[in-house]
Amino acid sequence: MSEDFRSAAGEHAATLVTDGMVIGYGTGRAATAALEALARRALRVRGVPTSASTAETCARLGLALTTLDEDPVLDLVIDGADEVDTDLQILKGGGGAHVREKLVALAARRRIIVIEESKLVLRLGTTRGLPIELLSFGWRSTLSRIAQVLPGAVRREGPLSDNGGVLVDAPLPPDADLHAIDLLLKAICGVVDHGLFLDLQPTLVVGGAGGVRVLP
Ligand code: A5P
Repeated sequence: MSEDFRSAAGEHAATLVTDGMVIGYGTGRAATAALEALARRALRVRGVPTSASTAETCARLGLALTTLDEDPVLDLVIDGADEVDTDLQILKGGGGAHVREKLVALAARRRIIVIEESKLVLRLGTTRGLPIELLSFGWRSTLSRIAQVLPGAVRREGPLSDNGGVLVDAPLPPDADLHAIDLLLKAICGVVDHGLFLDLQPTLVVGGAGGVRVLP
């Protein structure tokens, strides 16, 4: 059922793209559903992929690629999310692509987040830990500093990120001050970036049993 919700939301997100736009191509299942719908519209668009796997998807779909160096300002980005809270704060990085995703989101004038209803939560950290990418050099020392801020942080099993970084997941306490955590993590040497996407004023395209809703 989630797949149907993602497809319906992705289909709607693709209608927000118009001919000639330069966009960001997100990573994950919902973003892929949107890219497939976009490819079916056969518009003249180009975009910055947020991961190697998305670049491969775009090659398969015939979607033209560009880079942030060539196109530093994007009309919009279409991406997924792991969680979105009631203040529209976002947690991303379940697929380990959050550093490129954040760079692309910051370059975009508008951020379209495609999710299924189950990704809406009362507080971030409800369904998973916070993804954090570390420079691989000295990552154990960096992880021990992160654990002083977020006890229970652990290295994620699996490959390094597309950037060659080590991926970590850290539980968020129920009363977490997201802005304080943002600053504390960014102040740790060796942290590349984390999956809190704060104050980005996204447009949510939410697929659920009642159809597709656009929020706010
Ligand atoms: C990739 O690192 C993530 O931020 C994804 O955007 C997020 O995990 C959502 O993916 P799904 O749409 O596959 O759930």
